[in-house]
Amino acid sequence: MNAVTAVEGVSLELDDIQSGALHERPSPYVGTYLLLRIDDRASGRELVRRLHRVVDSGRPSSDPARDAWITVAFTYGGLEALGVPQDSLDSFAPEFREGMAARAAQLGDVGESSPELWEKPFGTGEAHVAIAALSPDAARLETVLERARGAREELGGVEVVWRQDCYQLPTGRTSFGFKDGIGQPSVEGSGRPPTNPGEPPLKAGEILLGYPDETGELPPMPTPEILGRNGTYVVFRKLHTKVAAYRQYLRAKAAGREDEALLGAKMVGRWQSGAPLALAPEHDDPELGAEPRRNNDFRYGDDPRGFKCPAGAHARRANPRDSLDRDGSVDVRLHRMIRRGTSYGPMLPDGMLDDDGADRGIVFVFAGAHIGRQFEFVKTQWLNDGIFIGAPPEKDPLVGPNDGTGRFTIPERPIRRRLADVPPFVVTRGGEYCFAPGLRAMRWLSELGS
Ligand code: HEM
Repeated sequence: MNAVTAVEGVSLELDDIQSGALHERPSPYVGTYLLLRIDDRASGRELVRRLHRVVDSGRPSSDPARDAWITVAFTYGGLEALGVPQDSLDSFAPEFREGMAARAAQLGDVGESSPELWEKPFGTGEAHVAIAALSPDAARLETVLERARGAREELGGVEVVWRQDCYQLPTGRTSFGFKDGIGQPSVEGSGRPPTNPGEPPLKAGEILLGYPDETGELPPMPTPEILGRNGTYVVFRKLHTKVAAYRQYLRAKAAGREDEALLGAKMVGRWQSGAPLALAPEHDDPELGAEPRRNNDFRYGDDPRGFKCPAGAHARRANPRDSLDRDGSVDVRLHRMIRRGTSYGPMLPDGMLDDDGADRGIVFVFAGAHIGRQFEFVKTQWLNDGIFIGAPPEKDPLVGPNDGTGRFTIPERPIRRRLADVPPFVVTRGGEYCFAPGLRAMRWLSELGS
C-alpha cells in the first residue's frame, strides 16, 4: 500500500503521482524533451520498466538533488504500441484518442500552424513516449538525462525521434519579454498554498485522475483503475514566437516607447515584469511583478469594462477569474489548468526589430484531468473566439490564430483604442496529447502480457 498524505482534508497518493504534475518549475531552469518511438513491443515494455525506476514521485523532498526530475507520458499510439488492451484504450478521453493533429481545425492550427507543416514526428503517429527532464542547472540535468539514457541502453526497437532543449532566458522571461508561469491554481492536498488568495485550491480531481473534481464527481478515468488512477493528461505544444513581427507591430502602432510597453501589457494583461494591470494599470511596477505573494493576488470584478485590463487581454481570457461571476453560466473553476511551459531558442537581442531567422518560442505544457473542458475549451472558446461576456468578437491578440485582418480593442476614456490588422505572432510547430500515468500504472504497463 502506498503512503497516503492528508493535507487540507484531501488524501493524495503522492508516492504514486509523478512529480512533474505537482512540482513547480525551478527558476532558473534547464530542460530537455525527448520523443521516442516504440518499434518492438517487448523493448517498449522493458523501457517502461526501466523508466519506472527513474521517475520520481510527487512526495516533497528536502534533497536538492531531487530538484531535477523526469516525467514520462504516452500518446495513444504509444499505449497501443505497448499492447494495452482495446477495451482499456477505448476508455481514455476521446480527444486523447483522436490526438492533437486530428483536432487541428478546432484548435486553430491552420495555415502556417497546420499539421502538414509540423516538425516530424509530431502528428505522424510515430511519437509514442514523451520524456521531460527538468533541473535547476546543467549538471543535475545531465545526471537525470544519464538515467534516462540508461533506460534505453542496449534496447533495440526503441528510437529517440525528437529532442528539444530548453532553458530560462538570461532575462528570466520568455521570448516576447514577459515573465511567465505566474498565474497557476493550487491543488487540494498538494500542500502548496494558492498564490491568489481569492482562488481556493482546486479539487484534486481537476488535475489528477481518481479524485473528485469541482463537480463533486470522479472524472472519467481510464480502466483498469490501476492504469488511470493518479495519472493526468498532458498537452504538449511547441510554439514558435515571431518576436520581430511582434516588436514591429508595437512600434508601428504605438505613440512612443512608453506607449509600446503599455500596448504590450494591454495585450497580455500584465507588464513585462509580471505586474498585473489589475493592480498596476498605469505604469509598470517591477517590485510588484517580482513579489510572488502579491503578483497574483487580484480579481477583475472592479473592472468589468476592462479599463484597467482589457477583457481581451491574453491572461484575462485564459483565466477570467471573477469576470464571469455575474453571468452565472460559466464556472471558471472548470476551466483551470496547470502550466509547465518552458522557453527554447536564443533571445532576439534587445531592441532588434529584424527577424534573425532563429527558431525561438515556448514549449507549452498543460497538465489536467480534462483535455476537453480545460485545455481545448480555453484554447477554442476563450483564446481563439472570445465569445464570452465583456470581450469583443476578437481573437487573443498575442497567441490567437490571427491572420492580419482582426483587431484588438483597448477600452479607454473618452474613446476606446483599436489596434487593427493583428498578425499572427505564434505558430504551432507541433504537439501531442499525452497521458502521464502514476507509478503503479507504469509498472502495470511494463508487465502487460502478450
Ligand atoms: C506562445 C504562446 C503563449 C505565450 C507567449 C503565453 C504567455 C503568457 C503570459 C506572458 C502570461 C502572463 C503571466 C502568467 O500569469 O503566467 C500567460 C498567462 C496564462 N496563459 Fe499563456 N501564453 C501562451 C500560450 C497559452 C496557451 C496556448 C494557453 C492555454 C490554452 C495559455 C494559458 C494561460 C493561462 C491559463 C495563463 C494564466 C492566467 C492567469 O491565471 O491569470 N497560454 N501566458
